[in-house]
Amino acid sequence: MSKPSLQLRDIQKTFEQGSGATVDVLRGVDLDLAPGESLAVLGPSGSGKSTLLHIVGTLERPTSGTMQLGEVEPFSLDDDDLARFRNRTVGFVFQDHHLLPQYSVLENVLVPTFAFGDSEAGPDRARQLLDRVGLSHRLDHRPAELSGGERQRVAVARSLIQGPSLLLCDEPTGSLDQATADAVADLLVEMHEAEETILVVVTHSLALAQRFGRRVELRDGVSREV
Ligand SMILES: Nc1ncnc2c1ncn2[C@@H]1O[C@H](COP(=O)(O)OP(=O)(O)OP(=O)(O)O)[C@@H](O)[C@H]1O
Ligand SMILES: [Mg+2]
Repeated sequence: MSKPSLQLRDIQKTFEQGSGATVDVLRGVDLDLAPGESLAVLGPSGSGKSTLLHIVGTLERPTSGTMQLGEVEPFSLDDDDLARFRNRTVGFVFQDHHLLPQYSVLENVLVPTFAFGDSEAGPDRARQLLDRVGLSHRLDHRPAELSGGERQRVAVARSLIQGPSLLLCDEPTGSLDQATADAVADLLVEMHEAEETILVVVTHSLALAQRFGRRVELRDGVSREV
């Protein structure tokens, strides 16, 4: 089955700060991405990169504007259906791996499949993914027994367990040394191509951004292709 395209139109996001003042972080972002495309999001600190990624990942609703993934308009769903949509459709990799310390590597990769009890993915797919990220010899280890790069490879396997259409990464290599960062970047590109996801990577690193098909810069609340 072919995967859906992503369309954002005039996405705006305003936050209320504690004082009652408001800050317009996104002032009208448009974006079109087809399955298999990859995009780096650049921009200064505070420009709204994470905010945009959270909206694309449906963790946060925009103040206004529309998002469509194939035929679905996720923000027209209620919170329960949106959570189910997110679980099935979006894989996340953050700067910190967010693995659960008490669970093994294999169990951590399976965590997203437990949320709604109707996942098609199980231990076989988890083992396959862990094999593809080079960790089949670490299935029973706990996160604390892994290196930083290994933990991030587990996070990549976990992000893909449900066969997502969107693979979203926020500074995925920000905590790694250069060689390990390069290896994790290789892995992201390779897995994204094999799974035909749409890949969006927020990064401060121009070198990392060059690895992806397209680049946009966020500035003053709008994005432009660079
Ligand atoms: N929940 C929130 N409530 C209020 N303001 C917020 C909230 N989340 C983000 N902001 C504000 O929105 C702006 C953009 O934040 P965001 O985290 O998206 O930036 P960023 O580009 O990811 O920065 P960095 O590169 O430092 O990670 C910041 O000024 C921040 O203070
Ligand atoms: Mg950020």
